[in-house]
This record gives sequence, C-alpha cells and structure tokens, in this order.
Amino acid sequence: MCGIVGYVGPQPALDVVVNGLARLEYRGYDSAGVAVQGGGALHTEKRAGKLANLRQALENHPVEGDGAGIGHTRWATHGAPNDVNAHPHVDNDHRLAVVHNGIIENFAALREELEEAGCKFVSETDTEVAAHLLSTELKRRGDRDLAAAMRAVCRRLEGAFTLVATSVEDPGLVVAARRNSPLVVGRGEGENFLASDVAAFIAHTREAVELGQDQVVELRADSVAVTDYDGAPVDVNEYHVDWDASAAEKDGYEYFMLKEIVEQPRAVADTLLGRVTADGRLALDEMRLTPQQLRTVEKIVIIACGTSYHAGLIAKYAIEHWCRIPCEVEVASEFRYRDPILDQQTLVIAISQSGESMDTLMAVRYAREQRARVLAICNVNGSTIPRESDGVLYTHAGPEVGVAATKTFLTQLAACYLVGLYLAQVRRMKFDDEIDAVIGQLATMPDQVERVLETVEPVRELARSLADARTVLFLGRHVGYPVALEGALKLKELAYMHAEAFAAGELKHGPIALIEEGLPVVVVVPSPKGRGVLHDKIVSNIQEVRARGARTIVIAEEGDESVRPYSDTLIEIPAVPTLLQPIVSTIPMQVFACELALAKGNDVDQPRNLAKSVTVE
Ligand code: M6R
Repeated sequence: MCGIVGYVGPQPALDVVVNGLARLEYRGYDSAGVAVQGGGALHTEKRAGKLANLRQALENHPVEGDGAGIGHTRWATHGAPNDVNAHPHVDNDHRLAVVHNGIIENFAALREELEEAGCKFVSETDTEVAAHLLSTELKRRGDRDLAAAMRAVCRRLEGAFTLVATSVEDPGLVVAARRNSPLVVGRGEGENFLASDVAAFIAHTREAVELGQDQVVELRADSVAVTDYDGAPVDVNEYHVDWDASAAEKDGYEYFMLKEIVEQPRAVADTLLGRVTADGRLALDEMRLTPQQLRTVEKIVIIACGTSYHAGLIAKYAIEHWCRIPCEVEVASEFRYRDPILDQQTLVIAISQSGESMDTLMAVRYAREQRARVLAICNVNGSTIPRESDGVLYTHAGPEVGVAATKTFLTQLAACYLVGLYLAQVRRMKFDDEIDAVIGQLATMPDQVERVLETVEPVRELARSLADARTVLFLGRHVGYPVALEGALKLKELAYMHAEAFAAGELKHGPIALIEEGLPVVVVVPSPKGRGVLHDKIVSNIQEVRARGARTIVIAEEGDESVRPYSDTLIEIPAVPTLLQPIVSTIPMQVFACELALAKGNDVDQPRNLAKSVTVE
C-alpha cells in the first residue's frame, strides 16, 4: 500500500524518483507526486490518478531539481484520491516535504493541537500532520538536524508508518523512518536510495540494507546512517538482491500478469531448487527451526490473507495427510481477535507473498507473544514477516508486479509441500522412500505447469465468450475446494464480477438455489485414481447443476472420460497426484479470470481499489 522512493546523488533526482515510482505503482495507483530540491527551493508536483498523469503534469510544467528527491504513489486511506490529498505534503512555508505509507492513528488529536498552534491544513490526510509536526520540530532546532526532528516526531506518532522527508535546510539529505511499514535502503556508488521495495532502485544497485522496526535513516550521497528513535546508532543487515532489473520488466508482454503466469514453471522450479542433499534428504536451509523444535510440535496453525490463505487451505490437506499433525487454517485478520489457543508446541505458519501484509504481521506478533513458534513462507527477501518470525522459507518466485497473485501462489504451494514433507521427515512419519517419491513427483511439476500453459488457448476463448456473464460459480472438493475459492477470487478482483466458490457437497444445502439457465459453473474434478469416492461424488454434483440449466465448465484430468457427457466445456489438465493437483488446476482459473477481465477492458495489473501489498489492517 503506497510506494515510496527517495534519492540523493549526482543523477537528476526527478528522473530517478519518477522511474522508481513506475516500478512501485503496483503498490497503489490513486495518485502520485514528487518533491525535489533545486536552487534553494522545494519543487513539488502531484496528481490524482495513475503515474501517467503526474508525468504529463511534469512535462507541462518541468521541475528543475538537482538535490535530493522523494516521491510517492498512493493507495488512499484518509481522504479521497484527489490532487490535494496526493503526497507529498508540505509545511506552511513550503520548505519541507513528506511522503507517507501507513496510517497515523492519533492524527485527529495531533491535527487539533497543530491547528491551535496556527498550522493551516489543506488536505484531509493523516500525513499532513507529520509534515507540520516535522516542520515545528525542525524550527525548534534552529532549522538544523532533520533526523533528530524526525525521531522526535516518530515518538509522538501512533499506528503504522513509513515517513520520508526532505527539507531545503539541507539539500543533500533525505530522512526516513519506519514502524510497521516497509522501507529498504539501496546503496550505490556516490548515491543512495530509499524505497518501499528494492524494485524501485534495482536498475541502479542490487546492494540493499534492511531497516528494522522503529529506526530512522539519514541518507546522503556518500553515507547511510541508521539510528533508533532515541538517536542511538544501530547495526543493520545488508544483503545482495538475487534478481536484476530485467526481472521487473514486462518483457514484451502487455501486462505483468500475463508474463507472471508464463513464468510459473521457472518460479516453481526455483522454489524447489537446492532443497535436497546429495544423500536424498530434504534440507530447508533458511528454516532456522531445529529438527528438535519441529519434533515437539503438537498443532499447526496457518495464518494468511487472500490468495495466500488459499495456499494455506491446500497445505492443510497435505500436512495432515503426511504428518498426522492437526492443522488449522485461519484468515489472519480474524486470528488474534478470537483468543486462539497457542503455546510453545504450536507451530504457526504465516504465508505472505509480500511479507508485509499487516493483518498477517499482527497475527505473527500475537502468536509469538503467546510463545508459539512462527515459520514464514514469503517471497520478498528481507521483508518484515520473515524478519520477525523464528524461521523462513523463501519461495524465490522473483518479483511479482501484477496485483493478482499468480506465480507466487503456485510457489507458495510448492513451499508448503516442502514444509509438510520436511516435517514428515524429521518426525519420521513417512519412510524415506515415500518422501523421495513425493519429492520426485514435485520435481516434475514445472514440466506439468508448462504443459498446462501450452494448452490454455481454449480457456481464453471461453473467457472472452463469457465477458457478459453476471455471475460465475466455482465448485470443488478436497484440495479442489480452495482452488475453486482462488478461481472465484481471481475473477472478482480482476473482472469485477460476482463470483462465488462452494465446497461441492455444500451445494445442496442452499447454494443450488442460485443455479439458473445458462449460469456458468466451473468445477474442479479430483483425479479418479486418487480419491475415487470424491471423484464420483463430484460427477454427481456436475449432473445436479447441469440438470438445473447450468453451463458446466469442467477442469478434469486428461483421460477422465466420465465427466465428458456432463461438460459443456472440458478443460483437461495433466494427471498428477491428488494432493499436488492444485499446482496444475489453478492455472486455467488464472488464465480465465485474466482473459475475461481483459475482454472487459480492465487493467489486470492494477485492478480498481486494490494494491499489491496491504500494509494497513
Ligand atoms: O502479500 P500477501 O501474500 O500477504 O497478500 C495477501 C493478499 O492480499 C493477496 O494474496 C491478495 O489476495 C492477492 N492479490 C489476490 O490475487
């Protein structure tokens, strides 16, 4: 939610900042703005709408900047997405600018105090409070030491925030602070960068510095100094980003989502890479939890949001089947409010692509307070959730820019299977050859994904033919149920259509009343070779909806002729083991939703009202 960029160095700051924002637009695209220093003054420009509007405004009224620069792309929380509420926000003297990601929860009281002191507010945002507070603190210090002023301001703020500021009093300086919102430093040669995500500066440097909770960073062209909110220097963790700028390009595709769907075989292969030792044992190096700790686990609780939650639902089937450990799956935003029963023998698995979802982060913190051990499954290196967890398994899917999760979902599944098998290995719940067999099956999944991608053209045609449908229903059983949920979510978020998923067995308990002539119903069919009984039951469910007029779109294993008579459209997927089927059955759903949304003229990378990383609760 909201993308932030800061730059100090010899390059034209405006170009660096605007190009950085282009890489972060997936984080929010309600409005965008910049502030750069030049000739002893602060130059700002901001516009409602996508970054293109800001670029146009900058072309019409060029901004001269040679000093430090900051920029912002917004996902609105306080105040409508218009020009005035767009960031940066400035003080009344127009000598200091601030951009912000997060929510300042005590902003109303602070605003009242500042207004009483004579500050004039122009926007409805919580952020403007930070600009006036910072200005007041800076003046108190004789216009010296922006970092000290920032520390003082942060001590007064409640909520979640990343703040980045620059002031004409010090043209070569950008100061930033973070609490519960992402911020990372990029170290260059004679230049330095700040951003919500390394993607913003990856074209300039791959050397990054993680910022911890409640830290303030002073960024100059030749130095990066990090302190806590009291001014004490802190040690920082530096790392090398293992992907380059080309990974964050569209590479000839019209949308990132199209590219990311196609990247799935590689992404799944990268998740699985290097997990097996020479003697055939699973070794999860980043895990940080010892086999002894994993042997004492009595219960697993998976917490996640959205698509990651669906990955968790699928993981439950595999983990319980392979490890015989009870496993609950819970939407992260509900978790800590129901007083869950946790202790040291509980393993909490937090699944989050971004590693920044606030709901999941808060659930992680709560779990650790209750002394549960937390294992994170994340894609973004150095993000907050893995940093605050006891262990981590990175999915290595590479950057995912499209707001809809695609390759990160498939890689989360692969990571969950690895965790399940690893638990089975250390707890001796399966013989080594049984684990080897599943690892062997997993190793074939990149090729199976490739095969699905080669055969999805009819799914595109189908999607285009359904662009005018008002509702689509999705049905599944066993692991096919979370896949159905994921298919419905994709359609909602991309095509803005009503879509709902049901466990197929639940249909007769109410939802079957929704079926009417021509209603598209997508059904995920389990393999007839795996759980035969499930397969037979879902074939009956297909017949039930078809008998009531539904248009059936059936996703089934190739060679499963039993469903053909009841399928208006049959989408065949490769035969794979039952528990691994979601890796292949999800792909037609992704393609279906993407193509249908494109047919409706929607922007699939930046669907309305959404942002890639949801850093508010
Ligand atoms: O970064 P996270 O995995 O924690 O994000 C969770 C959800 O916001 C996310 O999966 C969302 O549902 C997807 N964009 C849907 O495609």
